[in-house]
Amino acid sequence: MSTRTIGIVMNGITGRMGYRQHLVRSILAIRDQGGVELSDGTRLQVDPILVGRSAERVKEIADRHNVPRWTTDLTEALSGDDEIYFDAQLTTVREESILQAIAAGKAVYTEKPISESLEGSLRLARAAREAGIKDGVVHDKLYLPGLLKLKRLIDSGFFGRILSVRGEFGYWVFEGDQQAAQRPSWNYRSEDGGGMTTDMFCHWNYVLENLFGEVESVIAKTTTHIPTRWDEQGKPYEATADDAAYGIFELTGGVIAQINSSWATRVHRDELVEFHVDGTEGSAVAGLHKCVAQHRTATPKPVWNPDLAETQSYRDQWQEVPDNAEFDNGFKAQWEQFLRHVVGDGSHPYDFLAGARGVRLAEAGLESSATGRRVELAPLQVDVPVLDRS
Ligand SMILES: NC(=O)c1ccc[n+]([C@@H]2O[C@H](COP(=O)([O-])OP(=O)(O)OC[C@H]3O[C@@H](n4cnc5c(N)ncnc54)[C@H](O)[C@@H]3O)[C@@H](O)[C@H]2O)c1
Repeated sequence: MSTRTIGIVMNGITGRMGYRQHLVRSILAIRDQGGVELSDGTRLQVDPILVGRSAERVKEIADRHNVPRWTTDLTEALSGDDEIYFDAQLTTVREESILQAIAAGKAVYTEKPISESLEGSLRLARAAREAGIKDGVVHDKLYLPGLLKLKRLIDSGFFGRILSVRGEFGYWVFEGDQQAAQRPSWNYRSEDGGGMTTDMFCHWNYVLENLFGEVESVIAKTTTHIPTRWDEQGKPYEATADDAAYGIFELTGGVIAQINSSWATRVHRDELVEFHVDGTEGSAVAGLHKCVAQHRTATPKPVWNPDLAETQSYRDQWQEVPDNAEFDNGFKAQWEQFLRHVVGDGSHPYDFLAGARGVRLAEAGLESSATGRRVELAPLQVDVPVLDRS
């Protein structure tokens, strides 16, 4: 069995997402399993070099996980022959680093949002195409077991004509005074790239376009429910970014999607995100892990009668969609797909232009909220053809 090794420059691995999901749960898990198997039987092994601003913190992580290569100098890391650059830094500093990686001829894989603005995102999409590099953006929600099972239902024609999607995302993020917040404080400051709309509409765009249809218009109301929060040092600060976004999205084919996203809601759901899909032939509710369905032929007949206490147990009337497969960590599954793609072994369709559509939806949501108007979205293009990158 032959083995090939691919170097990956990993930036932002001291952060929440970079460390846990990308380094530990993805790249180190791939390394420890002996790499990714390619279709010709070759094992593609990964060899990361960790990059961060603080030598002490990066070295500590490198030592803890037996990663021999680390540096605080991105330029130096990019001058080597590693083939991939990965970015999980703060959104505000991402664009510049990615442009540097593109100029160095690296394939680039990045967290979302790919840039702070649509303009910046298109700049990246164009630069990637001009350089002929392979580019990818994290679309982790598509790899969740719940959504994979939902996709299975969609592909089988289970729903008939899909009518609507209602998404409910959120949980209570502690303010930081009585109990420490469970998310970084920059998430609540717009000047640092924070905000619910910026964060989550990127996700909702790819979930909607890959499962139900491209987003053609948005009406949104965004707000800051909690105006003061306490940061990592216990100091109060003004929350300048929105912590909730209530959006209605019209999709190609007439599907209406409505998604509530809030960090100021207490959970009365089975999972932290759930999508309820109604179709003429059946309905389903998918979360991160679980998916339940109810077919037209098994639909009970509720009758509205406010005089009587409820007698039906509605949740018990749904059938669980079985896994019928083993689902790996979603971040790792997408990494494996991207790695194969970089070495010419399969496709990875979630490129910078897809990332740009996510950023555009976030901008459109904020614009709709500011103006009180519905914002229409035309197909997004970059005037540089895709090179044959297979
Ligand atoms: N895919 C997802 O589900 C998901 C979830 C959360 C966050 N994210 C994205 O991942 C990225 C990182 O988010 P996070 O929650 O890990 O944040 P975090 O604050 O925990 O980590 C930020 C990282 O950026 C680094 N950094 C580089 N330059 C910096 C600067 N000038 N100031 C501060 N930090 C700097 C930090 O050292 C750290 O490694 C963001 O772009 C965010 O949108 C994605």
